[in-house]
Amino acid sequence: MSESDAPPHRHASGRRHVLVAVAWPYANGELHLGHIAGAYLPADVFARYHRIRGDRVLMVSGSDAHGTPITVRADQEGVSPREIVERYHPLFLRYWEELGISFDLFTTTMTDNHRDVVHELFRALRDNGYIEPRTTDQFFDPQAGRFLPDRYVEGTCPSCGAADARGDQCDACGKTLDPIDLIDPRSKFSGATPEVRPTEHHFILLSRLQDAVQEWLAGREGWRNHVINWAQGFVKEGLHDRAITRDISWGVELPDDAGLDAPNDKRIYVWFEAVIGYLSASKEWAQRQGDPEAWRAWWEDPAAETYYFVGKDNIPFHAVYWPAQLMGAGDLNLPTNVPANQFVTFKGAKASKSAGVGSSVLDYLDEYQPDTLRYALATNLPETADVDISHDEMARRVNDELVATWGNLVNRVLSMTVKNFDAAVPEPGPRDAEDAALLTEVAERLEQAGELFERVELRRALKEALAGAQAANGYLNAREPWRTAKTDTERTATTLWTALQAIATLNLAFAPFVPFAAERLDTLLGGDGELAGLGFTPRAVPAGTALAPPEPLFAKVELTDEA
Ligand code: MF3
Ligand code: ZN
Repeated sequence: MSESDAPPHRHASGRRHVLVAVAWPYANGELHLGHIAGAYLPADVFARYHRIRGDRVLMVSGSDAHGTPITVRADQEGVSPREIVERYHPLFLRYWEELGISFDLFTTTMTDNHRDVVHELFRALRDNGYIEPRTTDQFFDPQAGRFLPDRYVEGTCPSCGAADARGDQCDACGKTLDPIDLIDPRSKFSGATPEVRPTEHHFILLSRLQDAVQEWLAGREGWRNHVINWAQGFVKEGLHDRAITRDISWGVELPDDAGLDAPNDKRIYVWFEAVIGYLSASKEWAQRQGDPEAWRAWWEDPAAETYYFVGKDNIPFHAVYWPAQLMGAGDLNLPTNVPANQFVTFKGAKASKSAGVGSSVLDYLDEYQPDTLRYALATNLPETADVDISHDEMARRVNDELVATWGNLVNRVLSMTVKNFDAAVPEPGPRDAEDAALLTEVAERLEQAGELFERVELRRALKEALAGAQAANGYLNAREPWRTAKTDTERTATTLWTALQAIATLNLAFAPFVPFAAERLDTLLGGDGELAGLGFTPRAVPAGTALAPPEPLFAKVELTDEA
């Protein structure tokens, strides 16, 4: 549920504002588990943590509708680019719905609002002297009779020598490129060697922003090493002025006052406009709320925080170019952090057949519940290095950790309480050091998890939750309430009361990862299933609270016969 639906009286005043900005997927194909683990799941986990704290979260993204990934696909199929976007955008919305990725708004870059916001930012940059028109040399395909932007040219990377670099970026070394610099260029339309022709374009004068970006990066704290190192190394090599318009017909139109030759034959470059989507989506969300100024709390208040969840191939655009655009335009918040992930790959023959790179995320939901799929990915988030996982490893994680440790704990404690204490939380007797020790440990685990969520170390936060559940299992095994139930009702009551408090507290730590189960557990424990605004602090379940008879929170995942 969106945070705006949460009952406002449950929140303290002076709440933190947290913008969770998630990479805009090109709407040109299905998304795979790698995309989900790379950006959407971590963003959602982080957003849910903050909502539980009672922070005001705005989580936005949308379909990236422009650029060569869309037009190449459209050309292949002989349909319009718009048709491609209109096919995949609804599918993306279904992914979010089914996986519980809780966007406040997931829009597209095809809206009038986006165009208007792009024009505003363009004008601000131009008025501040950071955009100017220049006549440049551009590749032209003499056979196809058209200019060749970006990915319509391929060739050898001038930076690392890789053979098949695209005009705008080399996948081998990650550098962003200017197509004209490619060695041995060839046209993707015809294979012809393109010729160079002059054309007029707007340029963003990144060379003038270099010092500001460098200084800003030097002051960042708490960024992942691989992100800050990459960004600083990149800027140190020198930022070059880049064309932000193209000779194409699919994209955001130029503003009326663009002042170029043949402006109707040109569009704004996809990477210049797509990142502006974070701002335009925030404005669209505000308009839809009926409070058109509401976006300002996340973009203009210097106390607001902004986190960009992207894959590592997007680091230049979010840690360098977008901040440069914001600096040049002036007065809008820069990223607090860009917790970019590395890549996840899936190995194993079975994995690629039933659930591999080629299949959609929805295929996994035949075998997994949304929560168990989220858990399997969350334990493998590529936060510091690339990760390669197999289907069986994912299944084992779910079965041996989530189900065996957390699901069974909840089930055992609720069943015993319902059975022995008339379906209500019992009044505890005197508590000893062992009882107190469990609740102390669980409170510390929750606090530690909170600190890790703040630093966007989500895998480690999940480990804290799991360690808390292990401690509770250890406590139960030592206290043996199933045995004391026959002889010592008071002791049994104290044990189960203590375990229930621990479970209610640990549910907050698990909730960002397994939100469906967490909401169900909250209602089993007498809550209303709404976790937003509860606070990330130990929970109490008072004696006398009626308990619903439990059903298992999770279903196991079947192992394949994969080696
Ligand atoms: N569509 C781009 C990609 O998939 C990401 C764009 S993020 C944005 O790599 F912020 F620029 F939109
Ligand atoms: Zn390269």
